[in-house]
Amino acid sequence: MVNRIHYFSGLILSVFIAFHLANQLFSLFGAEAHIELMTLLRTVYRHIVVETVLLFAVAFQVATGIRLSFKKGKKSIVERVQLYSGLYLSLFLIVHVTAVMYGRQLQLDTNFYFAAAGMNIYPATFIFIPYYFFAVVAVTLHLASLHYLKTKSAKVSYSIAIIGITVSILMITGYTDAFNWRTIPVEYENFIKGVLPTKPRVHFLPGP
Ligand code: HEM
Repeated sequence: MVNRIHYFSGLILSVFIAFHLANQLFSLFGAEAHIELMTLLRTVYRHIVVETVLLFAVAFQVATGIRLSFKKGKKSIVERVQLYSGLYLSLFLIVHVTAVMYGRQLQLDTNFYFAAAGMNIYPATFIFIPYYFFAVVAVTLHLASLHYLKTKSAKVSYSIAIIGITVSILMITGYTDAFNWRTIPVEYENFIKGVLPTKPRVHFLPGP
């Protein structure tokens, strides 16, 4: 039963994640392109019914995933990859969705800059770049290991993992403007400063 719920909530989440990650990849074309696509996608996933189903899927996925991780017995390497990528995803989903809901509560538009702030403001970068990078890697390792356990096809499973890692690198490249760092609007900078200590910026006043 727990297995079945995990599988079905995973299916619902996968549809959202596919569009969501495609949206994140649009960061390669700049903030405006990303926001334009997000505005379009929001007309679907911000619909009260769709969003309620999505948030329930997140809750079921995390709860059943944690329950499944307590299953005893010797695990193969692939099963361990599935377990640890799933545990990271559970933690990520709890933190990520809570942060988005909290941002929305503060009347912040949780758009491109909401995620970009953490990745571009020093020293928060050291936390947020690995945090997002490993989230996307974990999604693909979780899928790749599941595929291997179901089909025993190592070739396809490795391909899924390699594509995922490449996509993750491209997203970080897009979000950070290839590590040239993006300028972040002040309201998002303040949000990150409220969450994590950041180095204060020195503002020079114009001379006389
Ligand atoms: C580079 C990686 C990611 C970035 C930059 C990112 C960024 C964002 C942003 C900015 C939002 C707010 C969307 C909005 O206001 O419309 C959001 C929402 C969300 N993200 Fe992500 N995300 C990433 C990866 C993921 C992954 C891997 C998952 C799932 C495993 C995920 C699940 C969600 C969920 C469930 C929401 C809430 C949607 C809603 O109800 O409004 N995200 N993300």
